Amino acid sequence: MILVTGATGNIGSALLRELHLAGAAPVRGLTRDVRRASFPEGIAVVEGDLAQADSLKAALEGARSLFLLSGFGAEAEVLAAARRTGVEHVVLVSSITVQTHPHLPAARENQAVEKSVKDSGMAWTILRPTQFASNTLWWAQSIRDQGVVRAPYADIGLPAIHPADIAAVARVALTEPGHGGRTYALTGPERVTVRQQVAAIAAASGREVACVEIGREEAHRQMASFLGEETADAVLDLMGGDLNDELLTVHDTVLRVTGTAARSFQQWASDHGAVFR
Ligand SMILES: NC(=O)c1ccc[n+]([C@@H]2O[C@H](COP(=O)([O-])OP(=O)(O)OC[C@H]3O[C@@H](n4cnc5c(N)ncnc54)[C@H](OP(=O)(O)O)[C@@H]3O)[C@@H](O)[C@H]2O)c1
Repeated sequence: MILVTGATGNIGSALLRELHLAGAAPVRGLTRDVRRASFPEGIAVVEGDLAQADSLKAALEGARSLFLLSGFGAEAEVLAAARRTGVEHVVLVSSITVQTHPHLPAARENQAVEKSVKDSGMAWTILRPTQFASNTLWWAQSIRDQGVVRAPYADIGLPAIHPADIAAVARVALTEPGHGGRTYALTGPERVTVRQQVAAIAAASGREVACVEIGREEAHRQMASFLGEETADAVLDLMGGDLNDELLTVHDTVLRVTGTAARSFQQWASDHGAVFR
């Protein structure tokens, strides 16, 4: 049994499809609310909260592999519970910031979770994705309502990754031998700027979308209102305020692990054009 956490999210939903198509071992998807979740036929759905390890008893029962998102604060307890119930291999979603911006608070948290996984006594594979193409969903309302994206650093290109490619790597790591003890930096196939992303979304959704570059201060004001000051600063650094070679590097890991080239941002936009209409 493979337990997939974040099963309703960007990576998890794609991973359920991948595992279903591959006819892999029985799969169970975790959500905090089974009433809102709809999974492919044959995939069991189970309720649980990653912030409360006690709530995962039913989810972990019989699981031998675990696909684990991080960032919920109880990872050490979740890993201990997984080990006790017989999980043998954990595939963890960490972040590329562990190697690009290790000083940022979220990167330090991911470092700690990576250490917990390595010390857990279970086999492990760590995925370190860069920023997701799906982060552009933040623009959906502004595009639908006003046909505009207001964003900072509009001409800085970063190798955003299609979450389905993270799922494809996770599927291979969960179902094929040879991926234990590996840490994979994951990016898209090329660098893409905000302006190019907006153009791709406009083409895919069939509507005109203007890209208006704003300054860091204005962006910070907007983001801090829902992310808080510190996280807003960190996100802005990662969007272009504090670049380094490692953040700009395109890795070919998706191709090496799955045998298929990583999907472009255009592909992501064409998969999700309807959301922006
Ligand atoms: N976005 C990025 O650029 C980026 C970059 C590097 C790493 N990451 C990491 O990638 C992961 C996915 O990020 P995302 O932005 O794409 O999010 P997402 O997958 O769209 O949504 C979050 C998922 O996590 C589940 N979830 C949220 N709180 C939970 C909790 N307390 N217990 C159990 N499940 C919970 C949600 O499920 P339910 O609502 O159904 O419970 C949902 O399926 C995160 O761990 C993030 O730290 C993201």
